Amino acid sequence: MLPTFICDTYEVFINAKNCHDMLSTSMTTTPIQREIDRRRTFAIISHPDAGKTTLTEKLLLYGGAIHTAGAVKSKKAAKSATSDWMSIEKERGISVASSVMQFEYAGCRFNLLDTPGHNDFSEDTYRTLTAADCAVMLVDIAKGVEPQTIKLFQVCKTRGIPIVTFVNKMDRDGREPMEVLDEIENVLGIPTTPVNYPVGMGKQFRGVFDLASKKLFQFDKTASQGAKQAEAIEVDLHGSEVASWIGEAGQAELIESLELIQEAGNPFSMNAFLAGEISPVFFGSAMNNFGIGPFLEKFYQLCPAPRPRPTELGEHDPHASPFSGFVFKIQANMDPKHRDRIAFVRICSGKFERGMKALNTRSGRKISMDRSLNFFASERINIEEAYSGDILGLWDSGHLRIGDTISEKKDIKFVGMPTFSPEIFVRIRLADPMKRKQLMKGLEQLSDEGAVQLLNHYDKSRVEPILGAVGWLQIEVVKHRLQAEYNVNAEIERLPYQEARWIFGEGFDPKNIVRPGSVACLRDLEDRPLILFDNKWTRFRVEEKLKDGFDFVAAVQPGRKQ
Ligand code: G4P
Repeated sequence: MLPTFICDTYEVFINAKNCHDMLSTSMTTTPIQREIDRRRTFAIISHPDAGKTTLTEKLLLYGGAIHTAGAVKSKKAAKSATSDWMSIEKERGISVASSVMQFEYAGCRFNLLDTPGHNDFSEDTYRTLTAADCAVMLVDIAKGVEPQTIKLFQVCKTRGIPIVTFVNKMDRDGREPMEVLDEIENVLGIPTTPVNYPVGMGKQFRGVFDLASKKLFQFDKTASQGAKQAEAIEVDLHGSEVASWIGEAGQAELIESLELIQEAGNPFSMNAFLAGEISPVFFGSAMNNFGIGPFLEKFYQLCPAPRPRPTELGEHDPHASPFSGFVFKIQANMDPKHRDRIAFVRICSGKFERGMKALNTRSGRKISMDRSLNFFASERINIEEAYSGDILGLWDSGHLRIGDTISEKKDIKFVGMPTFSPEIFVRIRLADPMKRKQLMKGLEQLSDEGAVQLLNHYDKSRVEPILGAVGWLQIEVVKHRLQAEYNVNAEIERLPYQEARWIFGEGFDPKNIVRPGSVACLRDLEDRPLILFDNKWTRFRVEEKLKDGFDFVAAVQPGRKQ
């Protein structure tokens, strides 16, 4: 049964004062259950430059995890990361420190997962989303919905992850808020429902009108340029203060827009939101903190506590007592001083205590969890205890794989960690053919780790292996790691394919579809045929030709057979 705070009206936003209020109305009673129910695990998705780093930092500021904004990273330094190994390491060092950030707000414990974007867009980004219970989609008011937003939105949508929208950079002259809401609805196909509405645009933007309480809050513009929290005072929507702020015509226009939203806007429904069918929208400026407080005041009520996760035997309850979780990311040699391998585990049920024993339910191997790292710390600190919803960094001696379940009970196996179809393909050539053995060892290990997909020729030959990736940085990292860790100098040749689909069905014969140059047939490491296309039009043509009898799949679950 859903706790009572999950109701179908805006009132959800004004009843609870904090997380404890919400929990006092819920059905959970034991201390462990209460710890679980106050977890909020989410990720921010956006196109590069929409302000993800800035918003992250401001959430940490409001959550008390940092005391002055400007502390998380030097953006300019991080952005210079392109292709040289030193800067990849540097960038990695930065994202390691911030792979999972924790902060407290209103009695809730937030886990904010870092989803790298831009240059380092990779499969990691997709996989990280599998560990989140909610996503905040950040949209730049001037740029609207951008290509990477669309990709990440689609991943969230297929996984049923609820999405809250934050329209950022309201302090810049952008587009009309209504126009951006329309664009989100039209391009992404998700209805929106504003939770608040901006007052003023560009330099005049200094407030938001809260649609639930019907209160208008004006921010203090002297708020130390975003380094400290922005104070807000309530002002009368119809009063002279607003008229002198945005002009009488602006005030009349604002009142009209608000009436329009209240009368004709999409009604908010908590159930539709949790099903990923509607997106509540907030407006603000992460840079100067306007709108961050109003966002957090609602977000902790919107973002769901850990929810049941699918296993081979059905849904697994986050309150169930055995500890369980799945590996969603593996990162090797994060710290060159340690040369180690860390598996990131999303806890899906129960309580973790350092030193406890569990099983890798795929291999049956026992794991002793003595070394579990906290990532939001400059020093590596061991986590002593954690709960369903939290992320653990487990030291791994090389036996864990992406998608593995770690559990105290052997029959729990989480499903839903698909392999996504790559979009970048390269052929690997060796400068020194004597290094072939090291090359294959390196590629197999990197592929196991999920750093890149190793693909075989359809006839299973491995002369000049082919790699597939979602982002170019994956290929660069693999090239550097082959050199640094396996002493292999690999030459990379980009292949002219942009899309791939697994093909499932009886009697597939690549001879029927091969058009030299525009299509290629390969196999993945589980021997499943994969077709590469030079562009989407070729794919459409091939899919059309074979649509009776064959399934074309963009993301495949491990173990799926022909
Ligand atoms: P990202 O992580 O999504 O790539 O974006 P990031 O936060 O790095 O922000 C990208 C640029 O947008 C930065 O400017 C940042 O200061 C700016 N920005 C973020 N939020 C806001 C906002 O609410 N309003 C305005 N006007 N700008 C915002 P930059 O010049 O690239 O970097 P910096 O010199 O500010 O560090």
